[in-house]
Formats: sequence, structure tokens, C-alpha cells
Amino acid sequence: MKEVHITETVALDDVAKQIIIIDQTKLPNERRMLRLSLVEEFYEAIYLLQVRGAPAIGVFAAFAAYLAACSIDTDENDVFFEEFEKHRNYLNSSRPTAVNLSWALGRMEKVAIMHKSDPIPVILDALKQEALLIRQEDEQACRAIGENALTLLKPGYGLLTHCNAGALATSRYGTATSAMYLGHERGYGFHIYCDETRPLLQGARLTAYELAEAGMDVTLECDNMVGALMASGKVDAVLVGCDRVAANGDTANKIGTSVVATVAARYNIPFYVCGPMSTIDPAIATGAEIPIEERNGDEVTSMWYEKRMAPEGIKVFNPAFDVTDHSLITAIITETGIYYPPFGFGRSDS
Ligand code: MRU
Repeated sequence: MKEVHITETVALDDVAKQIIIIDQTKLPNERRMLRLSLVEEFYEAIYLLQVRGAPAIGVFAAFAAYLAACSIDTDENDVFFEEFEKHRNYLNSSRPTAVNLSWALGRMEKVAIMHKSDPIPVILDALKQEALLIRQEDEQACRAIGENALTLLKPGYGLLTHCNAGALATSRYGTATSAMYLGHERGYGFHIYCDETRPLLQGARLTAYELAEAGMDVTLECDNMVGALMASGKVDAVLVGCDRVAANGDTANKIGTSVVATVAARYNIPFYVCGPMSTIDPAIATGAEIPIEERNGDEVTSMWYEKRMAPEGIKVFNPAFDVTDHSLITAIITETGIYYPPFGFGRSDS
């Protein structure tokens, strides 16, 4: 049996009151660890994508809320709660699309409110336990997603993924990559194809890196090669992650995902969305309501080039996510099961 490559994506040093992450903006060239202790550093780490991927953002935000609470210097509960709310709102404004951020911060707030009249050290301990639980649940969810997804895959399959929904984006295993890791352990011999994922190259820099490190058979291609790749018959299934799933199944994920889904439909290739239940937002009816982050145009024109590769002053359209229509999704795979259309995550029976 081959070893699964384990990355502790988000770690808490409770003695030093720091969160430890690997700076994902430096991969694959440099494995630089960051130790963060200030709430401004937590905000920046999420905004700059030093930590990224919906579930990892949620886990990180939970630890950030705990450490921000530890830094509040007061014995008075009213003052503590006022400050805690400020920190929570600030962290929540770091990125808009992945619902795991507000979901995790909401869980932390609920726990704090449950202990509203307790001494502050008791509140802090409850916050720490909740953050650790969120991380543990994420790891378990990812494993279960992989087991569920694996039931849909056959040995020798060619699997395409987009962006990084891997171990680096979660507590362990990843979501879209979980079945790849489990299949690899069990000798399935998958052939993995990674879209490079312009403009920030999460596929090339992160997915290709972590899967190749784990010893898998990985091939990298540019995003605009997806039609040629699918036409060649090398892809048996597509597995992608998600940042927010609306009640009707419309799914926001990294920009370009909807293109992959559209081309997959053209070639009758199953398109699977993998994610924990924490990424499903039953409060949102359709994808039209999902807030889409727009990022700096420099990411497109100059960020990865030695010299600028577009005219100075050119207008740039740079949405970080797009919405894949539910009609293009074969199934949504979560830790609780495999959901087929018609999706109805807003309903009480789902
Ligand atoms: O901008 P990013 O890198 O945070 O975008 C990440 C994605 O789109 C992932 O596919 C998604 O968050 C799922 S991660 C398991």
C-alpha cells in the first residue's frame, strides 16, 4: 500500500498563540511556513491566498476567531463580545464567495453566545474546542467524500480536475482529490489531468505538486486544452471542488469550472462536484445570488511574467469564480452521500 501525502494545511500553536500555515503563494518552488498571530495577518493570509480553498479557509477562520478572542484584553463580558464581533466581521469580509468562511465564523459566534455569561477563560476554551472540532470534522468529511466518490470510479480511469480542491485546500485528502488519494492507496492506477487554472495557477502550482508528491500519474494541461483532451477520449470523469452550492445545485467554483462542465457535457463525460455539506448554502436559491469575488487585473496581465504581457492601462475582467449551472452537474458528492438531479438542498428532506 502506498502512503498518502499528508499536509497539515492549518495548524494551531496554542502556546505561542499562532496559526501555522504553508504559504501557498510560494508553492511549488518554496515550502515557506508562516506563523501568524495578529488579526490583520489572518485577514491578509485569506485575502492574499496564502491559505485558500473553501474548507481550509473555514478551518483557518475558526482558529483566527479563537486567537483574535484570546487577544481581547478585558475582564468584562460586554466589552469582550463587542470586540469579538468586530474581529468576526473583519475576518468575514476577507473573501466573499466561499461560504465556509461565514459558516465557520457563524459556528464560532454561536458557541461564544452559548457561554455568554461564563468567565472569559471558559468562553475561550469553548472557542478553541469548536475550532479543533471544525478541523476534525473537515478531515472526516473529506475522507467520506472520497469513499463516496470512489464508488463511481473504475480502476484505470482518466480523471480531470480544475483548480486545487486537494489536501492543501482542506484539512486532509481534499474533496475532488480525496478519491484520487484513496484510489492511489488501493492501486486503482488513475491517470490524473490537472488544468493549470489561470490566472493564479492553483492547478499547476498546487494540485500538480501535491498529487505528484504523492506519487500519482499526473499530467498538466493549459485550461484551453480541455476540449482537445476530452476529444482524445482520455478523460472518463471530471471531479471538481466547490466554494458555494445553491439550493438548486448551481455551483460556484474557481473560474473556468463552468467551461470544463460545458465541454464535459458535449462529450458525455460525467461531471462530479465534490464538497462538504458546509459548502452548501441552502439560504441561496440559485447561483445568481452567489457573490463572486473580482480580483486585481495584475493577476492576469503581469503576475507570472518577467515582463508585463498586456498593454498598460488595458481593462481586465478577472472574476475569481464562476457558476456552473446545475443542469451540467451529474452528481454532487458530499460526506453524507451522492446527490443526483433534481437537487433540492433547501428542502428539509435533502
Ligand atoms: O481562489 P481559491 O484558490 O481559494 O479557489 C479554490 C477553489 O475554487 C476550490 O476548488 C474550492 O475552494 C474547493 S477546495 C476543496
